[in-house]
Amino acid sequence: MLGCLAPHPPHVVYAENPDQNEAFSEGGWETLRWGYNRLARKLKTIDYDAMVIFTPHWQTYIGTHFLGLPEFKSKSVDPVFPNIFRFNYDISVDVDLAEKMCEVAGESGIVTKMMRNPDFRIDYGTITSCHMLNPDWDKPLVTISSNRNAHYYSPEVMNEQASALGEACVRAIEESGKKVVLISSHSLSHRHFVTESPLPEDMSREHIYNHSQYVWDMKLVNLMRHGKMREVIDIMPEFTEQTIAETEAGGLTWMMAAMGYPNYPAEIYGYQSVIGTGNLIAAWDPREATREIVL
Ligand SMILES: [Fe+2]
Repeated sequence: MLGCLAPHPPHVVYAENPDQNEAFSEGGWETLRWGYNRLARKLKTIDYDAMVIFTPHWQTYIGTHFLGLPEFKSKSVDPVFPNIFRFNYDISVDVDLAEKMCEVAGESGIVTKMMRNPDFRIDYGTITSCHMLNPDWDKPLVTISSNRNAHYYSPEVMNEQASALGEACVRAIEESGKKVVLISSHSLSHRHFVTESPLPEDMSREHIYNHSQYVWDMKLVNLMRHGKMREVIDIMPEFTEQTIAETEAGGLTWMMAAMGYPNYPAEIYGYQSVIGTGNLIAAWDPREATREIVL
């Protein structure tokens, strides 16, 4: 079981110009895209059955939901950037594994539900992270919604709930006997810039806008490099509040709980600003023989 932190600014898909996206770009955000390309190549060398992704852009207020049909096909349009992301997707789902997770999490006391609506539109976070990690789209997904504990209660409650969900999911994965790649789909600091460039891929306009946010991001990167994931999760409520981070949805906490809070170094693939947000690509490879110190 390998874990990936995979940010989902639709800009990186836009910049890659895949056939599925209607918009055309002249490139951009290479530091992130080249990091993603390298991690995608590593995933090609690993034998696994499914990608299990936790997304902040499928938001549920009553319980945690799982995609529950074998195929979803439609067009995803980014609500903030429809000019750059109109993606025609056709994804397959590992329904057996999703049902197993739903069942085991339910037994542990978490409110859960299977999503069986054939017209349900897949969120752009899932699509962006999965496309960048596996542009061939040749692995089925399990997509998990984010229950809004941070909004409804507090970041501390979110941390507890997401940990419990991660522990339940790993029990379900072990019982299924399947090999999976876990994906936590989000950026780190999340303060947007306020003036959009006329040309989105104009890299002269992309830079860090807020030094305090940058310092927070680098603190987390440093802890990840040194295998201190328990500490990262312990400070998650404070980090989330101070950087208005998408970690508020619980993705990183969920993934780290599922992986037993790694005490080995993360693989760091790249960090770059997109519209002012701090985006880090990282992976946790439990096998020392294949773990790389990338950057
Ligand atoms: Fe997002």
